[in-house]
Amino acid sequence: MNPNHIAIIMDGNGRWAENSGKGRKFGHQKGAKSAREVVRYIGSLGIEYLTLYAFSTENWGRPIKEVNLLMSLFIETLELEINDLNNNDVKIKFIGDRTSLKDSLVKKIEKAELLTATNEGLKLSVALAYGGRWDIVNATKILFNKINELKISLKDVDEKLFSSSLQLENDPDLLIRTGGERRISNFLLWNIAYTELYFDDVLWPEYSEKNIDEAIEFYKERKRRFGKNV
Ligand code: IPE
Ligand code: IPE
Ligand code: MG
Repeated sequence: MNPNHIAIIMDGNGRWAENSGKGRKFGHQKGAKSAREVVRYIGSLGIEYLTLYAFSTENWGRPIKEVNLLMSLFIETLELEINDLNNNDVKIKFIGDRTSLKDSLVKKIEKAELLTATNEGLKLSVALAYGGRWDIVNATKILFNKINELKISLKDVDEKLFSSSLQLENDPDLLIRTGGERRISNFLLWNIAYTELYFDDVLWPEYSEKNIDEAIEFYKERKRRFGKNV
């Protein structure tokens, strides 16, 4: 069976640019093109959910020039792609700490979410200023308010209630990381408890349909036991 939800850590833009003798900007621009192709292809496979890691809470620690460049690229890409996404019935949402983003970007994000809110095709989540630890702390705050407002008893707080305050509505079946590193880099910590992990050496700007097919084949070969003995 195909995975119902794929998450991708899109890594390797900088190294790809370096290998090509170009600046990191060029790598990020090419990376945005890969993202567009991947969204289109995964949508065409009938997969229901795709979650893309675009910018982590730790990425704020990069040189200001690169951060600004990435933020401009997010705005540009969103402007360029939103009508196509909408025409293809994609429902887009952004996950992450939007209080840390510029107002102009937040406005575009809100507009895109509103425009595509009733679409029923691919459910695309873009993780921007996202960190798995931030998500858990943020969920705790949301839950705290819910507990107070709805007078929920602490003995009724369980994993299901807690996870309803997290950013994603469901857990990925398959997590792909490109760029050769074998780590999570503070992506979806809670949601990947039982996700199948696939690490690909290909640098993100070179990622293609063939690589997705390989990751899905890997997934199909897994026997998911969820701790049970069958
Ligand atoms: C991923 O590519 C893009 C972001 C993290 C925003 P990198 O910029 O991390 O590329 P490498 O890992 O340095 O090659
Ligand atoms: C992870 O890549 C974040 C994104 C792809 C958005 P990084 O390049 O930031 O991760 P590290 O520094 O290799 O762990
Ligand atoms: Mg990287």
